[in-house]
Amino acid sequence: MLPAAAAMPVPDGWTDEQALGLVVNRPTALAALRLGGVAAGRTVLVHAAAGATGQAAVTIARHVGATVIATASPGKHATVLARGAHHVLDSRGDDIAREVRALTDGAGVDLVLESAGGAGFAASLAAAKRVTGRVVVFGLAGGEASLSNWGLVYEHQVHVIGLNLGVLIRAAPQVLGEVMAELSALLAGGVLTPGRPTVYDLADGARALTDLEARSTVGKLALLP
Ligand SMILES: NC(=O)c1ccc[n+]([C@@H]2O[C@H](COP(=O)([O-])OP(=O)(O)OC[C@H]3O[C@@H](n4cnc5c(N)ncnc54)[C@H](OP(=O)(O)O)[C@@H]3O)[C@@H](O)[C@H]2O)c1
Repeated sequence: MLPAAAAMPVPDGWTDEQALGLVVNRPTALAALRLGGVAAGRTVLVHAAAGATGQAAVTIARHVGATVIATASPGKHATVLARGAHHVLDSRGDDIAREVRALTDGAGVDLVLESAGGAGFAASLAAAKRVTGRVVVFGLAGGEASLSNWGLVYEHQVHVIGLNLGVLIRAAPQVLGEVMAELSALLAGGVLTPGRPTVYDLADGARALTDLEARSTVGKLALLP
């Protein structure tokens, strides 16, 4: 059940499918950016940047004046650049941390929005700026990965922040209020726009999952009942 504070009106003219991401993807992107301290002049690495959450994160980070480095599969780069990313890297590349360091004069980024998981998790930790860099972990598309206390002391001296929107809604109503207010302002200001979700019939739900696994999707996926 969705708590009332996390609900919002469907903006005028938006279809149900377009409104889907308003209560999950966009608040998640906003919450991740807030917890990560996004601000003008900071540099942000956004994984899965062509997805619904990623596109929102790229748009918002660019809007606040951050430098945005995105990752996505090659066929999706045009979408990510159209959202305002300054740089886009191949998410299937074998040394993303090195590429990020090359783009940041060796320093790394101030913030990583980490949803890659698997081997990508270590790359995200390595791509964050030593001492002050933050890594907000909210997804694990590539599977589980671990980080030890040894790793934090001797390998990755960064701030690691876990995010689960469902828990945030219940446990941090004040943060949720700030996120939803900011979301409303971004919608009213035309910064966040409806997007074009890919619509599947409910009976094709399995195909939606296969497409997700194949990393062939862009933006929000909607199942029509
Ligand atoms: N914690 C929360 O509360 C919360 C809320 C909402 C969403 N999420 C998470 O946020 C992430 C983005 O959500 P979304 O709905 O916008 O989905 P999405 O971006 O469409 O997620 C799928 C994309 O993840 C990327 N990816 C990277 N490594 C992958 C791998 N090994 N296998 C499959 N895909 C991989 C792929 O993009 P490329 O091929 O372009 O790299 C793929 O198209 C997801 O991990 C989701 O679980 C978390």
